[in-house]
Amino acid sequence: MRVVSGIQPTGTPHLGNYLGAIVNYVRLQDEAEVAGGDCLIFLADLHAISMPHDPARLHAATLEMVATLVACGVDPRKTVLFNQAQVHQHAELQWLLSGTARMGWLNRMTQWKDKAGKNREGQSVALFSYPVLQAADVLLYQATHVPVGEDQKQHLELARDIAQKFNNDFASEEAPVFTLPEPIIPPGAARIMSLRDGSAKMSKSADSDMSRINLSDDPDTIARKIKKAKTDAEPLPSEAKGLEARPEALNLVTIYAALAGSSVEAVLGEYGGQGFGSFKPALAELTVASLSPIVERFTALRDDRESLDAILARGAAQARELAIPTLAAAYRALGLVRA
Ligand code: TYM
Repeated sequence: MRVVSGIQPTGTPHLGNYLGAIVNYVRLQDEAEVAGGDCLIFLADLHAISMPHDPARLHAATLEMVATLVACGVDPRKTVLFNQAQVHQHAELQWLLSGTARMGWLNRMTQWKDKAGKNREGQSVALFSYPVLQAADVLLYQATHVPVGEDQKQHLELARDIAQKFNNDFASEEAPVFTLPEPIIPPGAARIMSLRDGSAKMSKSADSDMSRINLSDDPDTIARKIKKAKTDAEPLPSEAKGLEARPEALNLVTIYAALAGSSVEAVLGEYGGQGFGSFKPALAELTVASLSPIVERFTALRDDRESLDAILARGAAQARELAIPTLAAAYRALGLVRA
């Protein structure tokens, strides 16, 4: 069992990242330990340069994201925690895979279409080839389990397609170069939506800070954001079917269920028939109770530069070692001469 996943150190991590991905990093890190496998979690800083960025901010955000992940329970003694930029094999394998990835495959990526919008010509090459780097990130380590939110599923399918084509074209069936990775998507929190618009995902890059709950928000801010969250005038239904055409209400109930470790049905069993006047304060209380230990640990770690650098240096050294055999196999398979 080899768990591999990444998160971009851009913006502040939010409840969507936490429930959609980070909770599963922690769960799978522990499962991998029991199974005698490995877990690697990295900051996707190389991905972050695909969009206009401020270098000083990227540097600071990378260290903050390490502190956040550790505060959420990613344990550097159990997990290889590192940033891509310190493990040169990611960029190297991306180039090798670029011979296999097809333009048509990348053109179909919804994230590319969304981010590029109408101005495709003006985008960086990196934004277009971004999913090839993402494929390299997981294939480099022979990942079996990749915990991600729903929005990354398509990129993982592409990684499987690239692995499959590379294996077909350059390896034998008995000795494939790459393992096909499985995305691990939490059924209850695959897609946490914006608090302002139930049809858009909660995102680090959305303009309005009121649209997301940041993992660093204080209790008053959390309560205010939930109070102001868009809803409708109806009371909550007592069955999930009643939420079908009510995306904002569904989102709040989904968040409650995910934080409580329960299900939408169970939450409606308790709150069905009640209005948002009573549900929102309960959700705010649960959110604050769930996030405040994280904020406390984050605050204690954030300024401990020495520890954060040490975690990344150690993780990168471990990752570089783990990356060597697969990268060498890929060079060999392609017929590239290396003395
Ligand atoms: P990123 O940084 O946008 O998000 C990190 C993780 O959080 C999940 N996520 C969500 N889940 C549920 N609801 C939401 N609203 C929500 N928003 C984000 C994402 O699905 C992701 O799992 N390209 C990736 C980073 C990456 C990566 C990889 C992931 C680079 N290489 C290799 C896995 C494997 C990204 O930008 O995630």
